[in-house]
Amino acid sequence: MSLSDKRILLVVAGGIAAYKSLELVRRLRERGAYVRCVLTNSGAEFVTPLALSALSGDKVYSELFSLTDEAEMGHIQLSREADLLVIAPATADLLARMAGGQANDLATTVLLATDKPVLAAPAMNVRMWLHPATQANLAILKERGVVLLGPEDGDMACGEFGPGRMSEPMEILAAVERHFANGGVLAGRRALVTSGPTLEAIDPVRFLSNHSSGRQGHAIAAALAAAGAQTTLVSGPVSLDDPPGVEVQRVNSADEMLAACQAALPVDVAVCAAAVADWRPRHSLAGKIKKGDGHAPAIKLVENPDILATLAAAGPARPTLVIGFAAETENVIEQASAKRLKKGCDWILANDVAPGTGTFGGAENLVHVIDAQGAESWPRMSKAAVAQKLSSRIAEALGAG
Ligand code: PMT
Repeated sequence: MSLSDKRILLVVAGGIAAYKSLELVRRLRERGAYVRCVLTNSGAEFVTPLALSALSGDKVYSELFSLTDEAEMGHIQLSREADLLVIAPATADLLARMAGGQANDLATTVLLATDKPVLAAPAMNVRMWLHPATQANLAILKERGVVLLGPEDGDMACGEFGPGRMSEPMEILAAVERHFANGGVLAGRRALVTSGPTLEAIDPVRFLSNHSSGRQGHAIAAALAAAGAQTTLVSGPVSLDDPPGVEVQRVNSADEMLAACQAALPVDVAVCAAAVADWRPRHSLAGKIKKGDGHAPAIKLVENPDILATLAAAGPARPTLVIGFAAETENVIEQASAKRLKKGCDWILANDVAPGTGTFGGAENLVHVIDAQGAESWPRMSKAAVAQKLSSRIAEALGAG
């Protein structure tokens, strides 16, 4: 998404994550944004004003009582001329001073004086993050409308592990894009997406599942959220990061996936990209099945609920648009067309999952979009591009934008 003509005021506070802010400035500028930086004194212990200035192409502001800065650009003007204020990293100290309404340096003064939206990406030691004082400050800031992004779990520079790592620059960039896309074509619409495999327990250590990676479903959730839709993603077990700006419900079994989907209703559009296991063991045993005397156990299967068909038959709660995927290995379009009618969905995206296609787990997909009018074949493209194209088609069908 282009951020051309958008004015971002980036506040860089003092934490080791400040080095990532240099990358953030580059990415914002690449998208056409004007970036102006305020660097706190402690921030300057981690990155230099020169580096920020070189990357932003602008002067860096640090001093509250600088005669030249005040003459060129008063602190009130600095806080008001931006379309969005981004704090990255937002340290425990800066968040505390903001929550307390302090104005004891340029950063806090600008943040107190602004009438513009503020997005903060916290970064701090895990104990500092979990401390009740920090959590209370965050609650105050959230209530005042500050949007918080992260922090992420992970290894910390201080050697500890847990929540406290600043979100990656690309995630902060995506949040900025989402902020400006909120007037996007799907703003005010709600979307539900299923993704990944389901996992059906045989006993506590064994299960039935499939090779779905979640890449296609997750990309669709990301594209719908980027277009401004309030998006819930119900995902089976996958090793992907959560798409930015999406509410993620993690489940294992088909039963759990169905319950989470029903809880997410009402929505305007539902896209079922998950590879739901068609069957599950009739009984999931509480103890591990013992290897016997050469006889393999007979596992009786029962059919799982059909989530797509259930959503399509949800009566008054039925989403305006119900979209499925069809994973086929032969006669792809014919089989998928029959599946669309059988499941009662509006569109079905047929994809060939025969060995060698790379559809399961791969980065690309080749789909045929089938609706009541017939089939439209899209060229092979990345799963992100399929998601983007589908999101535009959904927006058009919902009469959005
Ligand atoms: O996750 P990736 O590695 O990126 O791979 C993407 C994908 C191949 C999994 C995806 O593009 C795809 O095809 N998803 C649907 C897989 C599938 O289960 O297809 P199906 O033809 O068996 O089912 C048809 C539709 O019914 C699907 O929308 C499915 O989500 C839904 N279904 C199936 C069974 C069931 N019990 N409940 C369902 O909702």
